[in-house]
Amino acid sequence: MAFIFKNVFFTMLRTHTCGELRIADRDTTVTLCGWVQKVRDVGAMVWVDLRDRYGITQLMLEEKNVSKELLALAHSLNREFVVKATGVVIERVSKNAKMPTGDIEIKVADLEILNPAKLPPFLIEDETDGGDELRMKYRYLDLRRNPVRANLELRHKVARETRNYLDSLNFIEVETPVLIKSTPEGARDFVVPSRMNPGEFYALPQSPQTFKQLLMVSGFDRYYQIVKCFRDEDLRADRQPEFTQIDCEMSFVTQEDILNTFEGLARHLFRTVKGIELPELTRMTYDHAMKYYGSDKPDIRFEMKFVEVNEETKGKGFPVFDGAELVVGICAEGTATYTRKQIDELTEWVKRPQIGAKGLVYIKLDADGSIKSSVDKFYSPEDLRAIAAKFNAKAGDMILLLCGETDKVRKQLNELRLEMGSRLGLRSKDKYAAHWVIDFPLLEYIEEEGRWFAMHHPFTSPKPDDLKYVAQGEFGKIRANAYDMVINGVEVGGGSIRIHDKTLQAKMFELLGFTDEEAKHQFGFLMEAFEYGAPPHGGLAFGFDRLCSLFGGADSIRDFIAFPKNNSGRDVMIDAPSTIDAKQKKELNIATTV
Ligand code: AMO
Repeated sequence: MAFIFKNVFFTMLRTHTCGELRIADRDTTVTLCGWVQKVRDVGAMVWVDLRDRYGITQLMLEEKNVSKELLALAHSLNREFVVKATGVVIERVSKNAKMPTGDIEIKVADLEILNPAKLPPFLIEDETDGGDELRMKYRYLDLRRNPVRANLELRHKVARETRNYLDSLNFIEVETPVLIKSTPEGARDFVVPSRMNPGEFYALPQSPQTFKQLLMVSGFDRYYQIVKCFRDEDLRADRQPEFTQIDCEMSFVTQEDILNTFEGLARHLFRTVKGIELPELTRMTYDHAMKYYGSDKPDIRFEMKFVEVNEETKGKGFPVFDGAELVVGICAEGTATYTRKQIDELTEWVKRPQIGAKGLVYIKLDADGSIKSSVDKFYSPEDLRAIAAKFNAKAGDMILLLCGETDKVRKQLNELRLEMGSRLGLRSKDKYAAHWVIDFPLLEYIEEEGRWFAMHHPFTSPKPDDLKYVAQGEFGKIRANAYDMVINGVEVGGGSIRIHDKTLQAKMFELLGFTDEEAKHQFGFLMEAFEYGAPPHGGLAFGFDRLCSLFGGADSIRDFIAFPKNNSGRDVMIDAPSTIDAKQKKELNIATTV
């Protein structure tokens, strides 16, 4: 059987997919191929649910219409067998309104087993009985399940729409190499030994950062790439050792142009993939984000902003607050009804090592107008009301206060804010709040290393006005032309306007503690390129997997990657990483004990 689909001539097995036949196709002779989802066998009749990527169609074989051999073949079918069936589309006697193909079935005249199958180790159903590890080991079977397949379809759609949008703005996709030299961007590199250059190693790119900048020097003024990046860092739900970026760079632009261009991309994706009109993205400085949310990626689906109450709480004899650098809290609306037990549980929650708070102080504004707190011994009702007023708290609300060293306590309160947001149902997955965080610090001091590090990467430009702080040695005050896009508290993308001036770039390396030698060794190629007419440029990269998981309403990016690694960085299906034999090691000049 042959047929033509979209002007392509197919001689292959099937005429239709398992998802497309409807009552209008009645009386048509069709051939379908797919996997057996389910068999219902009542002896004289056999029904088979045949599944492929597009859906399920019911096959029907009746003793009176088919040969004994064919019926026997149908009896022998089992789950996940690959079969081909030819027959006529007929109207079903008992229709299934839940299935798009539920009005019809195929009255089978011919059946062929293309390949039998072992019984799968877990149910290939939307709700499966397979645990995580088992599903990862048999990922190719897991991918047959609707929810996982739908995630990959969504990923495809996001990629396609990304290309459509960027293409319409003259961006050109250029591939950059995977075997490169290390670019320091905060994480460890994965390295690959070079057989032909004994004792030397390539690094897998943490991002194509330097290459995209070189492409700007080459005149490709609008570049993008949907590209694999590799980072050897501790894994979390939103981190994989190999992940994908939508990496972009533009020349002759200001920060404003970049924010507008990629806000446009985000809005286009929301519109085309989710059918949602995203409101204009608000902008928040890094300082504001830290002061009011304790995080550089605040979830602004809900308010619950931090309120600092040093003034209101000091000097009343409560030593914990008196000795604290910062006393800060949130107002959790409607939680004055929390019982003693619930508050104790919350206190234990903030005291867990992951959060690390010393304790939690509450002030309750009961519905009857009374005010109570865990520090009544030190604060009069008037004192408490003065604090509550700063939060604009109303009857029925509860204020939760933490104190300590500024940076630490802000981090802790951020966790508590997010937790309360979740408990109060303010973080619905169907609601999207996107915004920019701008004006990041250029440098951060890492105590353990005893030196300054680039907060974003060493190619990010400082705000010209802040260069005065360099002379004053106040490196922490220098702000960068750097920005992150945050959606629902997830950093989905980040970038900066780059340094395109060789002297400034050299200065930056110096600030970061590179000697001239080291800078030249690591980035000589870039510094040299800047001598050959580097345009002003800047860009950003989106975390593609994170965008997909956000669109899919999931916390983990793993389900949106066809073949992901587990939390120990292993691919349990192919069993990687794995050892290599002594001969291979020798060839690669890697020390071996054999
Ligand atoms: P950055 O390091 O901020 O910037 O990365 C850009 C975006 O990539 C995503 N991301 C990750 N996603 C999954 N797993 C990971 N391990 C992981 N690490 C990062 C995040 C992040 O916002 N070269 C710069 C971009 C630029 O300046 O243009 C860069 O890589 O969503």
